Amino acid sequence: MKVLFATSEARPLVKTGGLADVSGALPPALRGDKIDCRLLLPGYPGVLHGVQGARQCLVFERLPIFGPTRLLLAKMPDSDTPVYVIDAPHYYGREGGPYQDTDGRDHADNALRFGLLSWLAAYLASGTSPLDWRPDVLHCNDWQTGLAPAWLRFMGGGAKSLMTIHNLAYQGIFPPETVGQLGLPAEHFHIAGLEYYGNLSFLKAGLFYADRLSTVSPSYAEEIQHEPLGMGLQGLLAGRREVLSGIVNGIDTAFWNPAADLHIGCSYSARNPAAKKNCKQALQEDLNLAVEAQAPVFGMISRLTHQKGLDLVLEMADWLVGQGGQMVFLGSGDAALEASLHELAARHPGRVASVIGYDEGLAHRIEAGADCFLMPSRFEPCGLNQMYSQRYGTPPIVHATGGLRDTVVDATPEALARGAATGFVFAEATAAALQAAVARALALYRDAAAWKRLQVAGMKRDFSWEKSAAEYAELYRGMVGKD
Ligand code: ADP
Ligand code: GLC
Repeated sequence: MKVLFATSEARPLVKTGGLADVSGALPPALRGDKIDCRLLLPGYPGVLHGVQGARQCLVFERLPIFGPTRLLLAKMPDSDTPVYVIDAPHYYGREGGPYQDTDGRDHADNALRFGLLSWLAAYLASGTSPLDWRPDVLHCNDWQTGLAPAWLRFMGGGAKSLMTIHNLAYQGIFPPETVGQLGLPAEHFHIAGLEYYGNLSFLKAGLFYADRLSTVSPSYAEEIQHEPLGMGLQGLLAGRREVLSGIVNGIDTAFWNPAADLHIGCSYSARNPAAKKNCKQALQEDLNLAVEAQAPVFGMISRLTHQKGLDLVLEMADWLVGQGGQMVFLGSGDAALEASLHELAARHPGRVASVIGYDEGLAHRIEAGADCFLMPSRFEPCGLNQMYSQRYGTPPIVHATGGLRDTVVDATPEALARGAATGFVFAEATAAALQAAVARALALYRDAAAWKRLQVAGMKRDFSWEKSAAEYAELYRGMVGKD
């Protein structure tokens, strides 16, 4: 079985969020499951420099619409996973992130940039592909690859297509004239096709034309069939519920392993958790927090967007500090949220540290050094940090939504007694409900034996990719009806 995994980001080459973690880890896990999975990625500078042994396998001297383009075949730097890289410097050879320029503005030609990614994914998966290697399944991820299932249809078919939603909040919506600019057939620009309230939507196209749909947790798969989390696409998704599944992401258990983490200065495990306190002290020292072993430290690492609920934390942060807690934030995004984090830290020297930016090493040190992790997301398709937190003995406090609901076991008296509890789950996305969950965490934290049971239960959970990869493998096999 051959699978082409088309994505706009993949760790360790290019990352803005969890999609990169998934794209870096799922393909090698699938290969371990006897699936010949290959990636397709845009050739941003970091990708061209980071891949290994790149060789040209296809040249389009003058591709209509998209211009001169080369396709390279290479290997991912940290695994043997083959990756097709689209070398089109006029689209991808730029400073800034994969979607935005250095000032945080979307690149003006994103429809063309990800139109090319989608078109090429479809072409390689179609019956007309000139390559020897032809996938049985085209696995598309998020809006950037959403036009691929549509194009695959228009090209006359070939592989079966799967469209995975990592986040419905980003739909790739462009004005109607984009249809002509991309050379899409105008006759399919209507509600049963590419059109979404008068515009072109990449994601809607994918959800409409793909053979199968999936998202990254069973709860989110259910939530997106209704308002408000369907974000306008609930009708389409509910109508296709028979082909929609929810598969929880795994985590890279080698990269996120407190017993062998090169980013942290200590090593600990479920069997031997004592050294976690050294990580806590190091974190407090690093970030100029008062070095107090007894003060519970709450960590948060996040893109700063409305989705992630930082505003709820800001509302109850003074109260938390008043309870003797400390807080550590790492994130970047919305300028107003960044400013609020700076103000909060300035108000509470020695008690609150706010680091604005993107820092993988610090993310690991926070997971290891904090006592508790905050993830009050308004919605969360899967979420990865709550799983990293459990593995690092840092019980997460989460809103009961999407993947957070599916991966954290609330510390009810009953779950605690069974030894199943791994964190704190609250029902409403309000500051009051978050505060009540934090109060429960503070009370349990004072009971050292109970807290240790909570930590160890989380650390022992198996969040490895193998289980999720096996579920994808089964889904693919169901799509093509072969091994
Ligand atoms: P999302 O994809 O919605 O941002 P996830 O929880 O799935 O949410 O994944 C976020 C990933 O990005 C995690 O690996 C997290 O550690 C990482 N991350 C987010 N912000 C930062 C940051 N400022 N510095 C380092 N890592 C970050
Ligand atoms: C998205 C979601 C996040 C999910 C990630 C990977 O960015 O916001 O919940 O974990 O994709 O699937």
